[in-house]
Amino acid sequence: MKHHLLEICYLIGSVTFIIGMKMMGNAKTARKGNLIGATGMIIAILGTIFLYNKTIVNEQGFEQPYKIPTLIYGLIFGAIALGTVIGWMTAKKVQMTKMPELVSMFNGMGGACAALIGLMEFEHYPGQVGPLIPIIAGLVIGSVSFSGSIIAYLKLNGTMNKPIRLPAYNIINTVVMIGVFGFASWIVYAASADGGSLWGMLKDGTGAPVMSGSAAMMLYLLFAAALVYGILFTVPIGGADMPVVISLLNSFTGLAAAFGGFLYDNYVMLTGGILVGSAGTLLTLEMCKAMNRPLSNVIFGAFGGGGATTGGPDVKGSIKDVQVSDLAVMMNYSKKVVIVPGYGLAVAQAQHVIHELEMILEERGVEVKYAIHPVAGRMPGHMNVLLAESNVAYEKLVEMDDINPEFEQTDVVLIVGANDVVNPAAKSDPSSPIYGMPILEVDRAKNVIVNKRSMNAGYAGIDNLLFYDPKCSMFFGDAKKALTELVAELKTME
Ligand code: TAP
Repeated sequence: MKHHLLEICYLIGSVTFIIGMKMMGNAKTARKGNLIGATGMIIAILGTIFLYNKTIVNEQGFEQPYKIPTLIYGLIFGAIALGTVIGWMTAKKVQMTKMPELVSMFNGMGGACAALIGLMEFEHYPGQVGPLIPIIAGLVIGSVSFSGSIIAYLKLNGTMNKPIRLPAYNIINTVVMIGVFGFASWIVYAASADGGSLWGMLKDGTGAPVMSGSAAMMLYLLFAAALVYGILFTVPIGGADMPVVISLLNSFTGLAAAFGGFLYDNYVMLTGGILVGSAGTLLTLEMCKAMNRPLSNVIFGAFGGGGATTGGPDVKGSIKDVQVSDLAVMMNYSKKVVIVPGYGLAVAQAQHVIHELEMILEERGVEVKYAIHPVAGRMPGHMNVLLAESNVAYEKLVEMDDINPEFEQTDVVLIVGANDVVNPAAKSDPSSPIYGMPILEVDRAKNVIVNKRSMNAGYAGIDNLLFYDPKCSMFFGDAKKALTELVAELKTME
């Protein structure tokens, strides 16, 4: 009976994960989808704690039900409470711009769990290749994901801000990766019935073989080697490419959890793992596609390591700036304004004031839309989430392919804290690192205004020829401060 109830809990868990995931595809339903998935997870966890039928073999060699001691329940719920409080508080406090860091840290914890399962379970399956394969695979992949995610976290929060690249690091990494997989395969072979050498002659009370000291050492050596590979894999990748790497590591964690599902014959773990694994892989590929860079270039390309200008077009010409009063007049008498939000908008937390600007202009009969580039900001959907926070109507956010043909009929494009996603070098300069990336073609509009604090480069570290375009004027300043001044100026024009 208990067993059937547990299966039902797992089925509910699996279905809620799929429904939740589907709902997360739309900003309007995403929050609810997250809650539905979390509820399914709670049901699966409670089901496992209270309904799992554990048996042990008694001294006479018969299986008998095992009653979990109250102390163990106390420890389990204590750990859950502690984890919940820490997770809840961290997620509540985090700023949107720091979200990739948080995702990376949480993902690392998932990888660590998968690795710990491998470490704990290895000795329970002597000579059984079937379970040993998912155990070792989960251990290796989980460890890589754990150490890689920690490095990604340190890079994103600025602790590790200097690119560290060993000479020929691509070759070193490939050799280490092959070494780790070779070692892992050997351990499975040696722990199997044929290899046999990893199990000592010791037997426990029930006559089962006990892992020898040397076998334990091999296992921990593999754990350490996989951790080192995770570090070597992530360290050379440019700090700016971390969102893509985090998504990739996320898919690794999903895969490691799915191996746990195979091991325990647990469908909810399998479904959850496969969903995370496939979603992470798809997201990684989508980000690469939107940047027009193959995944190999992200992993081996050492791109976007610093924030300073590192190359790009040979810039000629001068820039001009615009005063807030002139800009207010220009916008007030426009028919159509398109706002291009970018990373700087998120940094400045200017999403509320930009919505205020939009409402004032609309009240005065100006049509206002937002142009959303798929990789604007630092994580997928960054701009959508940010603008949803300030209640910008979802219909006002227009995707790149749909807004590009509209720029010709646009009087003013106001770019706020965006840079690479409007850089014409992506179309015109084959030597540019962003060449081929689809961009918002803002230079087709009648007037282009760029709000940023200085002439500093964006994520790709390259200059932007748009700023030298005769149609373009710079509106320098922190986005929140500059837009607040613009809104105040517009209000005086009633
Ligand atoms: P960026 O090209 O990074 O440019 C952001 C600009 O914001 C900077 O030039 C900066 O100039 C300005 N800025 C910073 N703080 C500001 C503030 N307080 N007020 C006003 N401006 C401020 O951003 P983007 O155009 O959004 O492009 C995103 C980049 O990230 C792309 O290259 C993309 O490939 C990459 N990327 C994105 C993702 C995802 S999924 N979104 C993933 C990986 C990589 P100043 O310092 O002069 O102010």
